[in-house]
Amino acid sequence: VTPSVAAGADGVKYGFKWWLYPYGDGGTRMAWAGSGFGGQMPIIMPEYELVVVFTGWNIHDVGLPSAELLARVRACGSKIFSSATTVEEARWLEAHGVDAVIAQGLEAGGHRGIFLSEDLTTQVGTFALLPQIVREVKLPVIAAGGIADARGVAAAMALGAAGVQIGTAYLLCPEATIDAVHRAALKSETARHTALTNIFTGRPARGIVNHIMKELGPINSATPAFPLATSAIAPLRAIAESHDSSDFSPLLAGQNASGCKEAPAADLTRELAGSLAAGYQLS
Ligand SMILES: Cc1cc2nc3c(=O)[nH]c(=O)nc-3n(C[C@H](O)[C@H](O)[C@H](O)COP(=O)(O)O)c2cc1C
Repeated sequence: VTPSVAAGADGVKYGFKWWLYPYGDGGTRMAWAGSGFGGQMPIIMPEYELVVVFTGWNIHDVGLPSAELLARVRACGSKIFSSATTVEEARWLEAHGVDAVIAQGLEAGGHRGIFLSEDLTTQVGTFALLPQIVREVKLPVIAAGGIADARGVAAAMALGAAGVQIGTAYLLCPEATIDAVHRAALKSETARHTALTNIFTGRPARGIVNHIMKELGPINSATPAFPLATSAIAPLRAIAESHDSSDFSPLLAGQNASGCKEAPAADLTRELAGSLAAGYQLS
């Protein structure tokens, strides 16, 4: 779904610019890129792809890419996984032929695959969502959201997960390309306080609560449509970050940052798998 330039222009005329104005000149110089995605999806590389995950903001409102693109993915021998944030979305994905469903709970960091409803009250925590999806669909279900250590993985498995997807715990790994203010926030006590916010992109995403989220959000109806809010806030973000301030930055993170380690991602993965194998079963 390509956001229209008109949506951005309306945002400027009636709302978000006005909200950002008090924070300084940066807020008045907005570049409405209107980039969208224009139906363009990832280039398939037959020699590498094994699993293709369609999830989150890149397919919001549509659930999955076109049947033609899915057929091309399958022709490469790849499996298709996609994420569901409600039981209804899981059923929808099963009916549209995915190979596995990711049960993406409300605790998860960043954007999530919300696509059947804009109503955030439909959103469910991981350990409530997972068993309901496991009961509803015949596919393997992968648990995501708030899992940060081997005990969490074992708990998800006990509730019927075939695997887990972990994001936040990897954010301090050297491979993560987050910026310095994001790293600092993750290492601080403030990482315990997160919220769903739309003010950084126009779509709800979970991040550590900061100055702009407290003052304008976390959900603000004047926010321009996705992804136009990103360029609206970019000048303020750049100025603040140049002063080592995270006040205007999207500090994307889930509710459980306790598993974050400044260690290579492979080491963290081995540690998780090792502890699991060593007996972190819930029995
Ligand atoms: C920084 C960050 C950005 C993310 N961006 C997306 C995204 O764009 N789309 C999506 O479906 N999930 C996104 N996620 C969620 C992950 O795919 C995964 O489901 C989640 O990280 C698992 O929960 P956890 O963060 O509690 O470990 C993001 C997660 C993080 C931490």
